[in-house]
Amino acid sequence: MGEYDRWQGRYAAQEYIFGEEPNVFLSQQKHLLPKSGTCLAVADGEGRNGVWLAEQGLDVVSLDFSENGQDKAKALAKKRGVTNIEFVLADVHNWTYPADGFDVVAEIFTQFSDPAQRASKWAGMRRSLKTGGLLLIEGYTPKQLDYGTGGPKELDHLYTRELLQAEFGYFSRLEMKDYECMMAEGSRHAGMAAVIDLIGWK
Ligand SMILES: C[S@@+](CC[C@H](N)C(=O)[O-])C[C@H]1O[C@@H](n2cnc3c(N)ncnc32)[C@H](O)[C@@H]1O
Repeated sequence: MGEYDRWQGRYAAQEYIFGEEPNVFLSQQKHLLPKSGTCLAVADGEGRNGVWLAEQGLDVVSLDFSENGQDKAKALAKKRGVTNIEFVLADVHNWTYPADGFDVVAEIFTQFSDPAQRASKWAGMRRSLKTGGLLLIEGYTPKQLDYGTGGPKELDHLYTRELLQAEFGYFSRLEMKDYECMMAEGSRHAGMAAVIDLIGWK
């Protein structure tokens, strides 16, 4: 089964498989977000992060390739009375990322990309972030293979400090933190997990 069918199948469930609350790392960065502006939520799935970012005052583009995921994201936005969010159905590896389009780009758990796909996704994300814009990334590290509580099985899909440094090292006030924690973000991200967070301004 391909990645698209896998996600369509997972999102056919009634429940929000990653929950309706935003990713914990993302919500902890609330104080860094501009009060207004534009934001890209990459591979936003059922919309827990995109809807929360819109609630912070940002005009959000929620990008994902799963119709089933986006239907749930649209329902979540409606339930929360959020209208400043646009849903774009597209493949993040091939999407035309608008140059200097966003004040904030958030990439939370998108490790379906192989190294070549990741290079094109990250090039697009860098291009679409305005100079001075905020980048927020959370992903699993190779240690996550020991936990198996979510994320990919392929070692080269996982994020390391060196990988992120090579791609985003020129960002200003760059902060990276890798650690292990108890994750409770819906049924698919549950249990001890090994993650790395990145915060930086282009
Ligand atoms: C682990 S989920 C994370 C969803 C969301 N970021 C969150 O934290 O709740 C990965 C998401 O990537 C999407 N996805 C996978 N491959 C994709 C692709 N090539 N283009 C766009 N979306 C993709 C899936 O539909 C799914 O919503």
